[in-house]
Amino acid sequence: MGEKLVALLRRPSMRVALGVFVLLVLGGAGFGVWQSQQPPPQPIEFNHSRHAEVGVQCLYCHTGALTGPTAGLPSAEKCWACHQQIPITKPGQQQLADYIASGEPIPWVPVAIQPDFVQFNHRPHIAAAVSCETCHGDVSNMTVAEPQPDQNMGWCLDCHIEASKGNEEMRTRLLDCATCHY
Ligand code: HEC
Ligand code: HEC
Ligand code: HEC
Ligand code: HEC
Ligand code: HEC
Repeated sequence: MGEKLVALLRRPSMRVALGVFVLLVLGGAGFGVWQSQQPPPQPIEFNHSRHAEVGVQCLYCHTGALTGPTAGLPSAEKCWACHQQIPITKPGQQQLADYIASGEPIPWVPVAIQPDFVQFNHRPHIAAAVSCETCHGDVSNMTVAEPQPDQNMGWCLDCHIEASKGNEEMRTRLLDCATCHY
């Protein structure tokens, strides 16, 4: 199997194909960088700073971060538990009421997202007291969540090296490819 693959890779046509593949991947990465710096339009301009001002905690809405890989988004019903008691004065509040009336889920657009082959898990980070802001920026002063630039493999590894503080066992575990790719 291995030998066959090597023989295949030696064929000039395969090298051209590989070259094209690499160019496509690099081109895609360039596009990704451009794209990842624009906050995408959201179905409701949900205002993070307003909710921080009235004292709603990040984990109240993104509960999953404490217990598992994904932080999760609140359901429209969770928004409505508060908002059914709040007079509608802003267009976003009317939009929310319309989603509740129609029974449709709110189609939020992902902002903080890694490729499928990366296994990120919130739980160990929250357990180690890494703050949301360290990775997501100053969300309490944002309206819709803004993407953070350069959150690549080097970003993960740099912090993992720092977090292991010279502890060899921990460093090996946190830098092991299988910790993030499996
Ligand atoms: C160590 C960095 C780090 C910390 C700390 C962190 N996050 Fe994340 N967060 C990420 C990464 C990376 C992703 C993308 C994960 C993916 O696509 O698999 C993400 C994704 C998300 C998402 C969207 C996807 C999902 O998981 O539902 C939300 C919401 C989120 N984070 C909220 C939070 C909140 C709230 C906190 C604090 C309680 C927090 N994060 C702490 C790195 C972090
Ligand atoms: C814990 C209670 C609570 C939850 C949960 C909650 N809100 Fe709010 N929200 C408030 C309060 C309080 C205000 C301020 C009301 C005001 O200024 O009239 C507010 C304000 C708003 C506004 C107006 C923002 C502005 O620009 O001033 C919108 C839009 C809104 N919320 C949408 C949502 C959506 C969508 C969700 C669910 C994702 C949600 N809220 C969840 C309490 C909550
Ligand atoms: C009242 C509920 C609520 C609170 C409180 C809240 N969020 Fe959010 N968060 C949302 C909603 C709704 C979205 C989807 C809209 C958007 O991306 O702006 C979101 C999106 C996000 C995203 C991007 C998620 C994705 O799908 O990529 C991150 C990261 C995030 N929030 C972090 C935080 C942090 C950090 C805090 C605390 C400072 C916080 N949130 C407080 C409701 C909330
Ligand atoms: C700001 C610092 C920081 C950043 C950035 C960061 N991490 Fe971590 N990560 C930690 C800390 C601290 C731990 C917990 C270490 C411990 O106590 O075992 C951890 C643990 C983990 C674990 C659990 C490892 C295990 O087996 O226990 C995974 C998986 C992980 N991180 C993936 C990632 C990925 C993927 C990224 C980038 C997308 C990332 N981390 C970015 C600090 C960070
Ligand atoms: C702490 C988490 C973490 C560890 C450990 C880690 N990676 Fe990654 N890796 C990532 C993230 C996040 C990405 C996606 C972002 C990017 O492309 O830089 C990635 C991307 C990649 C890619 C795709 C590169 C590209 O440009 O698209 C390859 C290949 C890869 N990793 C191989 C490895 C190998 C081999 C190891 C072990 C030596 C390893 N990774 C260890 C987090 C990690």
